[in-house]
Amino acid sequence: MVFIGSVLYILMADAVITPLPWTQVVNDALADAGLLLICASMALSGLCYFWDFADRYIIYRKHLGLWGCALIVAHGGWTLALPQYSIALLLQPQNIRAFIFAVIASIILLMMAAISNRYAVTELGGRWWRRLLRLGYVAIFFGAWHALIKKAPLWAMWMEAPLSAPPLSLVVVLVSGMTIVLRIALWIHQTFYRHD
Ligand code: HEM
Repeated sequence: MVFIGSVLYILMADAVITPLPWTQVVNDALADAGLLLICASMALSGLCYFWDFADRYIIYRKHLGLWGCALIVAHGGWTLALPQYSIALLLQPQNIRAFIFAVIASIILLMMAAISNRYAVTELGGRWWRRLLRLGYVAIFFGAWHALIKKAPLWAMWMEAPLSAPPLSLVVVLVSGMTIVLRIALWIHQTFYRHD
């Protein structure tokens, strides 16, 4: 559903700013939907801490994260399968930074998916398991930065003539920033304000 919503949004916003082949619409939608699902999964910590209404959604946390990871892996694979992108191109000086950030985020997400099971909790111990899963915020940070580098020219075009809704990548990067800010707010509250 999030993926189909992303496709429709991109067709009504991004594709109005600049024409997009369907292969790129699908690839961008995979990336945007994947990062949104990962943000939703990680943001549940802060949402449940500050607002009771979110408690009922915590059971979906693992599934949101795993689906998000699957879509991001599909995005990485699809990118490399497209004729306009090759490893050689992604490693060129103007692309290398975005590519390294993408690889760091991908490794963290795959590690998180690999330890999302009871066996890993018993082997690692609850404390280390939770610590490793917190690296998801680092993955969001690098994933969003990677998107920012790739899509900043499109955002600039939209800002010059905002004839449609903002590009989905801009919305997703803002959601990523809010997810990280929410985690920092949670940490500040737990560290300085909670006295029970
Ligand atoms: C090695 C793996 C990856 C590769 C090769 C890759 C490559 C790319 C490329 C080439 C674009 C630009 C697409 C275009 O405008 O034509 C892009 C966009 C994007 N990527 Fe990745 N990426 C990878 C991993 C990731 C990861 C791990 C994340 C997030 C956690 C991510 C999130 C995004 C987002 C949000 C966009 C913007 C989508 C849009 O245009 O709406 N990517 N990626």
